[in-house]
Amino acid sequence: MKLFEMFFRERELCPLAGCNIPTFRFLGGRGLLCADYSTEFQRQRNFIIKYLSKLDVEKQMENEIIALIQYIGHKNGQRFDFNSAVSASTSNMIGALLFGSRHDYDDPDFQALIEAYHSAVKLSSQASFQNFLPYLWFLPQCKRSAHAWDNYAKSVNQILHKHRMAYNACATRGLIDAMMHQTKENDQPLFGLEDIKANSQTLYFAGSETSSSTLTWGMLFLLSYPDVCNKLQSELDEVVGKLRRPTLDDRPNLPFTCATLLEIQRCNNIAPFSGMHKATKDIKVHGFFIPKGTRILADYWSIFMNEAIWTNPRQFQPMRFLDECGNLKKVEGFIPFSLGKRSCPGESLAKPEMFLILTALVHAFTFHVPDGEMLPVPVGTTGSVYVPPKFNVCARPRQ
Ligand code: HEM
Repeated sequence: MKLFEMFFRERELCPLAGCNIPTFRFLGGRGLLCADYSTEFQRQRNFIIKYLSKLDVEKQMENEIIALIQYIGHKNGQRFDFNSAVSASTSNMIGALLFGSRHDYDDPDFQALIEAYHSAVKLSSQASFQNFLPYLWFLPQCKRSAHAWDNYAKSVNQILHKHRMAYNACATRGLIDAMMHQTKENDQPLFGLEDIKANSQTLYFAGSETSSSTLTWGMLFLLSYPDVCNKLQSELDEVVGKLRRPTLDDRPNLPFTCATLLEIQRCNNIAPFSGMHKATKDIKVHGFFIPKGTRILADYWSIFMNEAIWTNPRQFQPMRFLDECGNLKKVEGFIPFSLGKRSCPGESLAKPEMFLILTALVHAFTFHVPDGEMLPVPVGTTGSVYVPPKFNVCARPRQ
């Protein structure tokens, strides 16, 4: 016990106090992902969800989708790393939403920021055991992971610092300004500076890595199942035509496309586990006694791969989300954004974002594996997100 206390004191944070997740220690127990459930947390979460729900997501994302199409078009059929391109796009989308600004894909500072969270996610997969055995924080892989996250946090703090310097109480460039207005206007500020920092770091990473990983899994599946990709393109051509890009209003007329997106999320779900939850009181669930303070992790993978719910769950079959008449089917138990008071606050953003990006790309280009290269097997790395393997693609504009 003495030894444990020594470790904790040295780290200046007892990992067992509060619901701090060791991987996300850099957030200091603040922000949407890490803060304990409290009235203050609820008010902050509601404020952010309300802000997100009022956004015109399609308008907000329009320029970024055009930029992505142009970026891929300029590759002129040369190979490129699909995940890097799409990560730049989703990072810019969340960046614009938070700070009201975007970066060129080749901007070295922007590339460094993306690399910082990619590297942190990757290293945290090698240290994920510390979330269950927090006293092992001193092992080299845990230190490397902590260092990578600190590095990432520093990069976001720099952006935030510049943003705060240009703050104008009469303008709202994005969510961060909206939070700062709250802070300035009220005696009892809803968000302190540390909350704003933690939420910027949380939302930037949670808002980009999740969608870009899902879209990368999606491309891997579409390349592996060309019949699905052809069917998707035929549906888009028939409903949207060649003269405009797909819009959110097209969704009701694109059941196969929507089913494909759902199947991408089911088949290699980027969040195989929930965030770390904590019982706020003693409770009995299905006869099991769970004492107050117990940490709980939901296992979504076991739901999405459950043979009692899905036939051949390991196979990629978008048709499973369609009924006999070809209409989109609601399948109970399909909860990629989780449920309840800590469910994903980014759902209203992620769903249209993934629809708009995937359809815009598949509508505009035919993708193929570069000559002499092979697609990786669809097995990822589980860290804070189930990250797909890297692969290159070539894109040819469709006639
Ligand atoms: C494909 C896209 C996404 C998927 C599949 C996804 C999934 C999830 C899941 C399963 C959780 C855990 C919920 C729980 O612990 O019960 C979660 C939490 C969270 N997500 Fe997402 N997410 C996605 C995109 C986003 C985006 C775009 C944002 C930001 C705008 C975001 C922000 C968050 C945050 C802040 C939490 C923590 C919420 C809390 O603990 O109260 N996510 N997400």
